[in-house]
Formats: sequence, C-alpha cells, structure tokens
Amino acid sequence: MSLVTSKQMLLSALENRYAVGAFNANNMEQIQAIVEAAEEERAPVILQVSQGAIQYAGLEFAAGMVKIAASLVRVPVALHLDHGYDFEQNVRCLRAGFTSLMYDGSKRSFEENVAVTSKIVEIAHIAGIPVEAELGRVAQSSDCLSYEEVCALMTDPEQAKEFVERTNVDSLAVACGSVHAMRTQEAELDIERLQAVHAQVPNVPLVLHGSSGVKPESLVEAIQHGICKINVATYLNQAFTRGMREGLQKYAESVDPRKPLSLSRDYVKEAVREKIRLFGSSGLIDAAGGFQSAPAQFRGTELGPAE
Ligand code: G3H
Ligand code: ZN
Repeated sequence: MSLVTSKQMLLSALENRYAVGAFNANNMEQIQAIVEAAEEERAPVILQVSQGAIQYAGLEFAAGMVKIAASLVRVPVALHLDHGYDFEQNVRCLRAGFTSLMYDGSKRSFEENVAVTSKIVEIAHIAGIPVEAELGRVAQSSDCLSYEEVCALMTDPEQAKEFVERTNVDSLAVACGSVHAMRTQEAELDIERLQAVHAQVPNVPLVLHGSSGVKPESLVEAIQHGICKINVATYLNQAFTRGMREGLQKYAESVDPRKPLSLSRDYVKEAVREKIRLFGSSGLIDAAGGFQSAPAQFRGTELGPAE
C-alpha cells in the first residue's frame, strides 16, 4: 500500500482505546522487520525517522526505504519525522513525502513552542499532513535527572489545553514520567497527571515518548487515558544489537554480514510483534488493508489524508 497519514490511525486509536506502535528505524533490516511484524499482526504501524537516523542514512534514503517497505505490505504504514528540531526540517520532510510530522519545541519557551508549532501546522495542513508537538519535556537517560527533576518537566494540563487551542496541533507528546533511552523496563508513569492532561484535551491523541524504560502494565494503563501513539526505539536497538553479537559469534568463521544481520532482523521483528500485542493494535486490519471496524468508506481502501 502507499503510505497513509497518522491522522485517522490515531483518531481511531483514541476512539477504540488502543495505541499505534511508532517504531524507530535506521536501516533496511529494521524497516523490513517493522513492516513484516505489522503485516503478520494485521496492525497499523508508524515508522519513524529520528535525527540520528537522518544523520546516519540521510533523509531521502530513509524516506525511500520506508516507502518501498510500505508498498510491499497490506497494512497502513505512516512515515513520521521524530523530534523534528525546526520549521525548515519539517518542510524538507513534507517535500520528501513524510505523512506525519513532529516539531519538538520542548526546550523552547512556551510562546516560542506555540509560534513554531503553529507555523508548521499551518503549512502541513495545507498538504493534508498531521503534526505532533511536545509540551513538557521527556528527558534523556544520559541527563541523569533525579525523580524530582523528571516531575518538574511534566506536562502542565492547563497549558496543554491552551497549547492545543492556539496551535491546532493533531497530536500531543506529553511528559508523564518516562525518560528516553532507558535499557530496563522499570519506570512507572504518573497516571494521574496523564488523566488530568487527557481531561483538558479529550479529543487530541496523546503520544508517549521514551517507552522502552516503562513497565508494560503502566503502558497498558496509559492507553486507557488517552495515549494513542507509543514510540519505541531503544528496545528495538537492544534486540538488533543482541542479534549482531550472537550472530558474529555463531558465524565466527564467516565474512558474510547478512548472517548476523538476518538474526538481528528476526529479533527486531519479534520485539515489534510483542509491542503491537501489548498496545492492543493487533488484528485490527483486514486482508484488504482497511480497518476491520472502520466506516465503510475506509474498509478495504487506503485511508484518506488528514482532514
Ligand atoms: O522518539 C523516540 C522515542 O521516544 C523512543 O524512546 O528509545 O526510550 O524507546 P525509547
Ligand atoms: Zn522521543
């Protein structure tokens, strides 16, 4: 199928209380693993390209690989820019065919974040492409923040309402206790904070960043309170590098890189399938590529562009 936007995917997730997995990919094997897992699980999926992936693979190359991967499967696939850092990069991604954008103004002032997000939303909506923004800040594990410091960065529910009203953003990344790039699943989300944000913006799909370090049961609970898109990167990188380490040992006599890389691809695929099931998005897509429970105009067809 051709790429679809994330707009309808996330609204449907909000209505039906599941989350779409948004998986980061840097190379061909990871992209193949993600779309194959989504197809086997009959799940909608978001493939996202981070700043690191853009530096590593190049914007056009990453976008091109995702488009080819999407064309080979019959489940909806969106191509998303992860943590876009400015207006210009978002425009470049729009031009390169991304079907979902993000502006991360979490390190800017509230007013600056509103101003840049609004500008991106205005131009993206003309092209029918939805935009995610971040309010509050999901820190990096390398920042080594204390629990109190993580709490101080959490999203303010009333600011969230004002932010959404002023920017017209399509989805909102919230800070509610997760931290990027944790290697063990031990964080618990602040569900009360999440409930308070969701109550202020009940019609806006919320996005969780830094899911790799969150306890599975906490992720499941968060989905009941407005989380519709869950970003997963580190957990997949762990699976990929485990495959490479084991593969290099297992095929120590070989110089064929495809052997360890195949093992990496298998491990990533299994990790993606596990997350899709946990997020409740397995089994949603019919054989023709439409949502099982979608209104007739979406069934068996590609989803339309954003409103
Ligand atoms: O934007 C990407 C994510 O927030 C991934 O976070 O590496 O902790 O899974 P993670
Ligand atoms: Zn993130």
